[in-house]
Amino acid sequence: MTRQLFVTTALPYANAAFHLGHIMEYIQADIWVRHQRMMGNSVSFVCADDAHGAPIMIAAEKANLTPQEFVAQIAAGRKQYLDGFHISFDNWHSTDGQENHDLSQDIYRKLNAAGFITSKVIEQFYDPVKNMFLADRYIKGECPKCHAKDQYGDSCEVCSAVYSPTELINPYSVLTGAVPVMKSSEHFFFRLSDPKCVEFLRAWAIDGNRLQPEVANKAREWLDGESGLGDWDISRDAPYFGIEIPGQPGKYFYVWLDAPVGYLASLKNYFAKTGRDYDAFMADRNTEQVHFIGKDITYFHTLFWPAMLKFAGYKTPDRVYAHGFVTVSGEKMSKSRGTGISPLKYLDIGMNPEWLRYYLAAKLNARVEDIDFSAEDFTARINADLIGKYVNIASRAAGFISKKFNGQVTTAWASSSDSFLSGLRAIAPEIQAYYEGREFSKALRAIMDQADMINAYVDANKPWVLAKDSANDAALQEVCSRLIEAFRLLTLYLKPVLPEVAAQVERWLNIAALQWADVNSVLPDGHAINPYQHLLTRVEPAIFDALFDAPVPDEEKKPGAVEELAATISIDDFSKIDLRIARIVNCETVDGSDKLLRLTLDIGEGKNRNVFSGIKSAYQPEQLIGKFTVMVANLAPRKMKFGLSEGMVLAASGTDEKTNPGLYILEPWPGALPGMRVR
Ligand code: MSP
Ligand code: ZN
Repeated sequence: MTRQLFVTTALPYANAAFHLGHIMEYIQADIWVRHQRMMGNSVSFVCADDAHGAPIMIAAEKANLTPQEFVAQIAAGRKQYLDGFHISFDNWHSTDGQENHDLSQDIYRKLNAAGFITSKVIEQFYDPVKNMFLADRYIKGECPKCHAKDQYGDSCEVCSAVYSPTELINPYSVLTGAVPVMKSSEHFFFRLSDPKCVEFLRAWAIDGNRLQPEVANKAREWLDGESGLGDWDISRDAPYFGIEIPGQPGKYFYVWLDAPVGYLASLKNYFAKTGRDYDAFMADRNTEQVHFIGKDITYFHTLFWPAMLKFAGYKTPDRVYAHGFVTVSGEKMSKSRGTGISPLKYLDIGMNPEWLRYYLAAKLNARVEDIDFSAEDFTARINADLIGKYVNIASRAAGFISKKFNGQVTTAWASSSDSFLSGLRAIAPEIQAYYEGREFSKALRAIMDQADMINAYVDANKPWVLAKDSANDAALQEVCSRLIEAFRLLTLYLKPVLPEVAAQVERWLNIAALQWADVNSVLPDGHAINPYQHLLTRVEPAIFDALFDAPVPDEEKKPGAVEELAATISIDDFSKIDLRIARIVNCETVDGSDKLLRLTLDIGEGKNRNVFSGIKSAYQPEQLIGKFTVMVANLAPRKMKFGLSEGMVLAASGTDEKTNPGLYILEPWPGALPGMRVR
């Protein structure tokens, strides 16, 4: 019987581009999904942007955009990654979509009606300038234990003390610098402490065989811990970018309430687009709901999410599969430090997406283990396995079939007793079980063991030697046909990992898209294949110089942060601008102006120039005196309130001061002298 699967990956926050961790998760889920599809199972594979919450609201404000515009910009950037790495989602939606508003509110209403919602007035820090309550990460102050300055509201990075924000000495709002005040407000809670909840979760998370053993153990710790489960605060006060709580004006769902509901919303949106019945699908007992997530969000997915669904009368998840984190060369990826690999850069510099799919698959297993990306390891794995073992088989057999036999294969091998093909076929159930169990590294190892045997057969039968004497033609055709048949089977096994290579092979072999059941078919006698074209190239280690080359700081990648390029100009246009190296002879503030500095510049003309420049916010006059910079020397002089300005100095700045504050004047390399032209 075919299975009916509803598969998701975690919904990424819509405040930044994807990093390697996201792509890893999508590749893991995509391999699993593609394998299911090859088995003939029906899969709805969906994801969405996680649009809500305070960080996105604040980031949008900084970019001078509405939150909706901000997340739309992020969403527009998703496709290039998903297509680029061959991730086969059926739908990509947003948690700000109408379906999610409806479903989240419905779940809340049902939880409320069932008695699972309570409210309580709590006191919290409030920013009186911004008029908003402050989450712990928006409060800083002096550590109450070691007195380190500028520590966050929940813990100290210097002495590791953990405390509540009210214990901070001289607390201030990270958003405005204002001293926060305590203010009370009514909050809504999901009653996780209800014994019915705990009882359900114990059955769901521990006894149900729905989780990996280590994840179930964690759930047991949480459920059996001293304090049990506390009620969960699911409300936030306006201003907040989120979904309004029905009947509670000015109150919004905390982002983690509506985020997982986004799984259902994306599915519903997909079904609406394709004319399918969402309600019937979710009510169908055969529907299996499977979530792929990272280890950091298991708490939400193994406690809050199933409990919410259960007590709202919704279907609960059938499986949650957690994976570990990716590190790069042993280092944790950090956006702020700019480490890690940019997936887009990976594609831009022409690295093959299927190399990465294969490499990650070769490291992935069913456990919650971190995996490390290393350039040497990557190169060795691709070149040894994919090129040296797999592609090698095709390239050694293909030419002879095309040149000598009109592209036709024979099944003469079928009668021979030393057919390794039966062994190759016999491992299909084992490979399939590895895919099903997310033991991808084991699957690939078993496939490569087969490739080793096939290569040994090539070495033993030497088609290139047979080809020297046409008396051996029958044998040559048989050997090469057997190799091509073997290659067809290897390709079938690798197809969930290498979908594009498999598609190329299908075109080459002139066959329909390979399904798992094709393990039992063979290329018929006399079947003509197309001329072979190279399938995959080797990894040249030098490519990593480009990949790891100075990472672009995340700040610059945010939408709206980089200014659009101006219209193209000719070299003649450019040469009209006379840029000169200038020495800053003197620099002083300007009475009556809070923006300008007065610069006295020497460009070797025998007289100095007077230039007013709007850089007071960035430099103290003493910092600049004696330095060299670049000026526009042929700009028409301009009469200003404070005197005549005879040129302009150049400075770099972001799109606008809110997203990217700061002004940076240019300074030439040592050796440039006043008066030299810059061209
Ligand atoms: N928005 C939440 C998830 C809501 S799900 C209803 C979130 N977003 S996230 O963008 O921070 O992370 C999305 C996924 O990427 C999570 O599964 C997370 O574990 C995963 N990863 C983030 N960094 C990772 C690595 N370094 N390595 C592997 N996966 C990582 O959490
Ligand atoms: Zn401290």
